[in-house]
Amino acid sequence: MHLTAKEESILNGEQGETKQQLMEILVGIGKVFGADEMVPVRSAQVSGASYKTIGEWGLKWLSSLDAHATVPAVLNPVGMDRIRWEEMGIDPGFAKKQLEVISAYECLGIRLECTCTPYYLNITEYGDHLAWSESSAVSYANSVIGARTNREGGPSALAAAIIGKTPKYGLHLVENRKPAIHIHVEDEPKGADASWYGALGYLAGKISGNRIPLFSGIRPGRDQLKNLGAAMAATGAVALYHVQGITSEARVFSYNTEGLESIVIEADEVESLFIGEQVDAIAIGCPHCSPDELMNLASLLDGCTVTKPVYIFAARDVIKRENEHVRKIERSGARVYADTCMVVSPALERYDRIMVNSGKALSYVPTMCGAGAVIGSTKACIQMACTPDI
Ligand code: F3S
Repeated sequence: MHLTAKEESILNGEQGETKQQLMEILVGIGKVFGADEMVPVRSAQVSGASYKTIGEWGLKWLSSLDAHATVPAVLNPVGMDRIRWEEMGIDPGFAKKQLEVISAYECLGIRLECTCTPYYLNITEYGDHLAWSESSAVSYANSVIGARTNREGGPSALAAAIIGKTPKYGLHLVENRKPAIHIHVEDEPKGADASWYGALGYLAGKISGNRIPLFSGIRPGRDQLKNLGAAMAATGAVALYHVQGITSEARVFSYNTEGLESIVIEADEVESLFIGEQVDAIAIGCPHCSPDELMNLASLLDGCTVTKPVYIFAARDVIKRENEHVRKIERSGARVYADTCMVVSPALERYDRIMVNSGKALSYVPTMCGAGAVIGSTKACIQMACTPDI
């Protein structure tokens, strides 16, 4: 692997022990995956931020580091809203440790944003190289924006945030971004909301595994693409997909489907996932809500009082920007939390059955929260939330 003189000097410890340690991580990964060189990244998104996951050892390691991020970097969602954690019913002992982890990252120059939608915060453009960790964010960056990132682990994303570079292999290389399976969708319903594409992704991820799918027969918008990709990354290991005539790399690949395995998914198969059962809580915002989604929720909840707990999740910065819509949402009794989500927070473990509008949450809520999950459209979720209990 070729290293520049500056990279060599970091590796030799001339810029301090922390940078040397982090450079060793990057070079080690580069060698394993056969990278020829390092590539500068525009931003990083760092996982390994939840105290539940990294524990005391991880906190000690983070606190021992002495360096500062050189590119814009944010954290993955953590186990609680770092300001409204008491309201979420989080144990004070857990909260204390979680806040220590967040502040250790702050000392390393990571922005105090814990979100899986960094693309709403940092400018991310076609062709940018990134070092992002969270699978739905990786999928969105690669597929919707046309940026390039592998799915980084916590330490490698942190190393990239501080060094400003990542080894150039995998999805950083155009030749690895070609479709490997063709999925044709029959009878896409007109005006289907994001949850429908989440359910489609739930099925398509199982079929694709770790192959790059090329879709035809659908015309999703940005929020629908977000849900589609998130679900495929959950039920499969899809970090990049293409949609004919829609996603950014349609211009790069000719989309000749000859020679690709071809699968058809019928709209009926997608709709069979929507079973409309009773639930005891509603959770929306997997991935974190966009400004448009918050606006839509504010209008759906207008004049209604929720009769069941409703959790909505979004990035703190998006919540601030959409303050007016958030206030309208909260007037109904629903709550909009930042920094966390229905899957990583222990707050939702108290429910038996949760309604979601996301294919990824449909897949993860049962295993991560120990609750049953039901998928519905955003409108159906709000109707369920506002229906009096019998
Ligand atoms: Fe984001 Fe949590 Fe879903 S991290 S993609 S909201 S599982």
